[in-house]
Amino acid sequence: MSIIIKSEEEIEIMRESGLINAEVRNVLYHTIEEGISGIELDNIARKEIESRGGTPTFPGYSPFNKPPYPGAICFSVNHQLVHGIPSKYILQNGDIVSIDLGVTYRNYVSDAAFTKGVGVISKKALDLINTTKNAMEAGIKELIDGNFLGNVSNAIEIHAKNYGIIREYGGHGVGRNMHEDPHVPNYGSKNSGIKIQKGMVLAIEPMLALGSIENHEDEDQWTVVMTDHSLAAHFEETVAITDDKPYILTKKENNGE
Ligand code: MF3
Ligand code: CO
Repeated sequence: MSIIIKSEEEIEIMRESGLINAEVRNVLYHTIEEGISGIELDNIARKEIESRGGTPTFPGYSPFNKPPYPGAICFSVNHQLVHGIPSKYILQNGDIVSIDLGVTYRNYVSDAAFTKGVGVISKKALDLINTTKNAMEAGIKELIDGNFLGNVSNAIEIHAKNYGIIREYGGHGVGRNMHEDPHVPNYGSKNSGIKIQKGMVLAIEPMLALGSIENHEDEDQWTVVMTDHSLAAHFEETVAITDDKPYILTKKENNGE
């Protein structure tokens, strides 16, 4: 395992990447409504990234001999957990949709995601979404120089309440590559694991399920679906560890809590 520490100059480039990511996610967030398809959202994402001087990170991504990923976004609806390929599926009132976006700018990647309800969604679905976001924010607060990585994982686990925590996927280092060391599990014990250090950049990304946590890959070899077809939610931000507070690179405002 080798964690790549970033200089302050590199973190400022990653911030530029993160700001493009934030702006494009904001456009997507406000475009999502009943009647829009995954492919339409994907095309908007490409155009909005490119008009800001970035390139989409995900197209062509091909780890472990998988077929090259075709989209600029991941578009995962309802029981689809993550890595859904943007399709002609048209969003319906009551759906929940997770959008994951990777932006590369001057060779540095930012990786972030959100889940949003379409129209009116059930109270159960809304609570799942809010809890997943809270769990991510609780994990981010622990990204302090000298703290244990296990404290990040543990904070996410505790804030996940009684929802199922997906085990197979988690957060990761980010830099010139989208996936760097270390892996960041969304569950774990306090005061365990490596020590977090200034200059690390980590993507924090909890994934929570309403039902069983069992999941599998669809025939397309990308889309991860919940085996019992229960709803799942996912949030992600790319965060730099500084000598002060966590610096959320993929979020416009970093003041307040
Ligand atoms: N945020 C996702 C992850 O870290 C990004 C997946 S990119 C894709 O796994 F290309 F695989 F879709
Ligand atoms: Co990620």
